[in-house]
Amino acid sequence: MAVLTRTAHDRGSLAGMAECDPELEARLRQGLEATEDRLRACVAEARHPAVAALAGQVVTGGGKRLRPLMVLLGAEFGDHARPGVTDAAMLVELVHAASLCHDDVMDQAGTRRGAPSINAVHGNRTAVLTGNWLLAKGGAIAAGLERQGLLLHTRVTERLVAGQVRELTGPAAGSSPADALAHYFSVISGKSASLISVSLRLGAVQAAAPDVLVRALGEYGEHLGLAFQISDDLLDITSDSSVSGKEQGKDLAAGVSSLPVLLALADERPKARKLRELLTSGRPATARQHRRLLAQLRASDAMAEARAMMHDQLGLARAALADLPDGPARGVLDSICDFVARRDR
Ligand code: FPP
Ligand code: MG
Repeated sequence: MAVLTRTAHDRGSLAGMAECDPELEARLRQGLEATEDRLRACVAEARHPAVAALAGQVVTGGGKRLRPLMVLLGAEFGDHARPGVTDAAMLVELVHAASLCHDDVMDQAGTRRGAPSINAVHGNRTAVLTGNWLLAKGGAIAAGLERQGLLLHTRVTERLVAGQVRELTGPAAGSSPADALAHYFSVISGKSASLISVSLRLGAVQAAAPDVLVRALGEYGEHLGLAFQISDDLLDITSDSSVSGKEQGKDLAAGVSSLPVLLALADERPKARKLRELLTSGRPATARQHRRLLAQLRASDAMAEARAMMHDQLGLARAALADLPDGPARGVLDSICDFVARRDR
């Protein structure tokens, strides 16, 4: 579904998804274009030209538009022509963009979506304020949605922040590997799964879909979101920046406990000792040490174990689809699982 590919580093990611019903594909394409137009108009409304330029850089600077797509697909299970659907698609992208502005500050990231990040160019204060502006615009849109829409928006913002705070504080000192893993899943459930799940639910709610379908879509989104974040963790280790649009090994260099790292640390077998020692001996000081650590991780069993956990989540996502009526929209949701499975390959 070429309709879903947007920027150089996204190209080839969502491309190659299963062929989709032409009518549905045209509708999704139209929905994404309408969302894009609305996003551009929203940014142009900024009273201050600097805010318009900064917010414009984040919002129109690329991205897969996975979350707006989820809104549109959720809406397929109700009356997709209802006007609130495009608002919801725009809202989730604004919230996502806001969270990325703040995330790049927290990660001290140098690039985002293949371009210098706002914090890198304009500093942390400007990046935080840009994120705040985007979130405020999202709030204004949510206020125009049905009450359940506004609630979903406020809850997802809370979950995003909670996930990020959990990541920041880390697991309790002296946690067992199992506790560290449970902590990891609580982090990614908040920072990644929540918005993907809410996107599907918002789309369905705005399209007045039956509650039972809203719930199934939410369940699918939770598991897809967990799998998506695991695939991001894998990409951090396997891909170069021309594919991901981010620095390779960024999380590793920043000391973020991604799933492969956690699994490598939990591996007590003698053959995993060297990698364990490297991971616990502090962050790599030189580019050479960083490359060595990346190579060791790539060759470790932790990668296959992390991939297996990603597949478990994709299996649960697919199981949730069984509660939805069969048809082209369900087929696309299924093929998105295939896309996530292939992302780091
Ligand atoms: C990216 O994860 C991070 C997120 C998707 C969520 C970030 C959430 C916050 C900063 C909380 C504040 C939220 C709002 C709405 C203002 P990652 O660091 O694993 O991915 P990356 O490699 O793309 O940076
Ligand atoms: Mg980050």
